[in-house]
Amino acid sequence: MKQKLAVYPGSFDPVTFGHLDILQRGLELFDRVIIAIAYNIEKKGLFTFEERKELIQQSINGNPNVIIDSFDGLLIDYVKKVDATFVIRGLRAMSDFEYEFQMASINRTLNPGMDTLFMMTSKDYFFISARTIKEVAQFRGSVSSFVPAPGEKRLKEIFEGP
Ligand code: PNS
Repeated sequence: MKQKLAVYPGSFDPVTFGHLDILQRGLELFDRVIIAIAYNIEKKGLFTFEERKELIQQSINGNPNVIIDSFDGLLIDYVKKVDATFVIRGLRAMSDFEYEFQMASINRTLNPGMDTLFMMTSKDYFFISARTIKEVAQFRGSVSSFVPAPGEKRLKEIFEGP
């Protein structure tokens, strides 16, 4: 029987507890989830790809049903390449909706065989974003409630030195 596979794309710069919550819930619906780290020329990240990958790896406790990969170009092409049908995205506040709706609609127009599954972020994480976490860390605030320990450590090193 064909395994149910979903792609969870994003920048993951860095991975947060909000991402991990969506991943966990995605794994209840799909046999395998590919975390696909997007290469975005316009969005230069704080972490390198290798670091992002490593931080995700350190947060998934060796779960064999999670595959970590990266892609550039269009998400629809990547989804086709790995022979998946579903993309998972987390929705936080209303402010996410317009962008996500636009993206899902464009993707579905370009590839009608693909669908985006939205999950409402848990109440504990709906206010978390990688951008605000980096800002808090930059000004030496604690990010331990927002990112797993390895990410917290790396952020400290980046902004406060080793
Ligand atoms: O974590 P992010 O930054 O919100 O993730 C956005 C991402 C990477 C999912 C999105 O920008 C994306 O799919 N980029 C790949 C390029 C693409 O397919 N664009 C067409 C949809 S507008």
